Amino acid sequence: MHACVAAKAELTTSLPPNAKRESMPFFFIDTTILKMNKFIRYVSLSGIVLLLALPAVAIADTQANIASELTSIFRAARLVVSSNQSHINDALIGDKGMSADVVAQKTIINFEIATAKTLKIDTTAKKAMIRAVKDVMDENQLLINEAGIGLKGFLPAIFARQVATKFTALMQGKMKIKLTAPKRLIRNRANRPDRWEANIIESLFKKVGYEQGKAFFEQTQYKGKDAFRFILPEYYDKSCLDCHGKPRGARDITGGKKEGGELGQLGGAISLIIY
Ligand code: HEC
Repeated sequence: MHACVAAKAELTTSLPPNAKRESMPFFFIDTTILKMNKFIRYVSLSGIVLLLALPAVAIADTQANIASELTSIFRAARLVVSSNQSHINDALIGDKGMSADVVAQKTIINFEIATAKTLKIDTTAKKAMIRAVKDVMDENQLLINEAGIGLKGFLPAIFARQVATKFTALMQGKMKIKLTAPKRLIRNRANRPDRWEANIIESLFKKVGYEQGKAFFEQTQYKGKDAFRFILPEYYDKSCLDCHGKPRGARDITGGKKEGGELGQLGGAISLIIY
């Protein structure tokens, strides 16, 4: 090995004009040149392929950014509800101080903490998402401000479904957002994953070694139309387990059956379609 490398080095600097082809060092040079040619061809070819593919990649990239931002706003809004759950369920307090504007403001703060990015509400979709959050809060003021009642059924997932329905309506068929979960964990049939979602959840998100929290997206079809689909996995934290934890089948405070979930287990997913 050593000798060959030395010989090759020597030959590349002083190549005899009538050198025999079958000698070992020549074989090396030939293949090296061949490889170089191949490499150059490969590089130029992939350059062309890249150039051709660039617009598609760029579009997918922008859509992934849009989807990532929107799902993060959605999640940040739900966090306002989940972190105020005991406050919302406090029978001794009337006005909870959770007006549409307050919740929208807190949503933006939660987003910025979670993503370490500033949030500009500068697109139709982002405006629609904040509008949806505000409308849902406006519509639930009477319910959440009612004194004398503890559990009000104003839960993060219910809030999320109302926001999702509003957002989807405001986007008039251009986008759809949805909170879903692995099939086995579904409580409300309205949140059932469709085939694409179920497939990503089961075959990708549940795969051992899949990077926690990493979204998956692709350009595909939705109801026969070209669509960009994005799905973000979510995991149970301690606060979820009061209702989704163990023992499986026991009743939680809402009267629903617990799923037997464990800390850190995949508990749901936020799905967004752009079409
Ligand atoms: C107070 C009880 C309670 C807590 C706490 C709670 N959930 Fe739920 N969750 C529910 C109920 C009830 C539903 C069904 C809501 C509906 O009817 O749409 C639900 C629905 C869901 C869904 C939608 C899928 C489905 O089953 O219909 C997901 C995803 C979910 N919860 C995840 C979580 C996560 C993650 C947490 C913790 C951050 C959490 N939940 C905390 C009670 C709870």
